[in-house]
Amino acid sequence: MRLAGKKALITGASRGIGRATALRFAAEGADLLLTARDAGPLAEVAAAVGNPGRRIHTMAWDLADTPRLEIRLDEAWQALGGIDILVANAGVVRLPPEYPDPTPEAAYDYIMDINLKALFFLCESAAKRMQARKNGVIITLASDAGLRGAPNPYGISKWGVIGYTKGLSKRVAADGVRVNGIAPGPVATRMMACEDGRPRESAGLPLGRFALPEEVADVALFLASDDSRAVHGHTIVVNSGNP
Ligand SMILES: NC(=O)c1ccc[n+]([C@@H]2O[C@H](COP(=O)([O-])OP(=O)(O)OC[C@H]3O[C@@H](n4cnc5c(N)ncnc54)[C@H](OP(=O)(O)O)[C@@H]3O)[C@@H](O)[C@H]2O)c1
Repeated sequence: MRLAGKKALITGASRGIGRATALRFAAEGADLLLTARDAGPLAEVAAAVGNPGRRIHTMAWDLADTPRLEIRLDEAWQALGGIDILVANAGVVRLPPEYPDPTPEAAYDYIMDINLKALFFLCESAAKRMQARKNGVIITLASDAGLRGAPNPYGISKWGVIGYTKGLSKRVAADGVRVNGIAPGPVATRMMACEDGRPRESAGLPLGRFALPEEVADVALFLASDDSRAVHGHTIVVNSGNP
């Protein structure tokens, strides 16, 4: 087992890529703390792990609530007894339909607050704690939209995630903390209006289909494990070959 004895915090773990990563990490021996805003689907993921040998905690946590971020991270740290691996996965691409303010400015703030601001403060705080222990792995979820350039809040936020991932990696390398990112292309999740896990053909992609959340989770496992011990400061593209 590649993550035996490791403790991992995965944000946005109730569905899609985060859920697949949680199941993959648990199968490889990790104890988990899983977060999302809605507690119900998190409980389902914890039940789906189905391995009584693993400690699985869930926490309803709105990452946009940055004033309470330190408190929530403290709770997570204590629940797990330390965090070896952070997967900063939670992200949004648009305003939810029920959002009270449908203006472009509200959409900009909503997307940036979750995708970039919350990710920044979460990774900053986790990195400091890991640096003090001289050990840790941080994985960010960017997007190939951030690499290829997309003139919208989502693309801007993910460009920021890629730059921050590189910058953070340089700052913490000497303290034994490894930082990398993943830039998926289209993945068959709710974000792409796909039912989680259902394959989706796409003639515009060289591989002819969206990636599956499990295929992104496999890359997260590689980056979380010692298999990638000499990989640092990179964002790995998982986008069905889209040039
Ligand atoms: N799917 C794709 O095609 C694709 C492509 C490129 C990059 N990505 C990136 O990969 C990551 C995961 O995407 P996905 O497709 O798995 O998305 P998803 O299926 O929509 O799941 C998103 C997860 O994030 C959580 N979340 C959203 N807002 C949150 C908040 N404010 N606080 C805490 N948790 C929150 C959601 O739970 P709640 O709603 O209950 O909070 C859910 O667990 C994202 O960063 C996304 O940008 C996805």
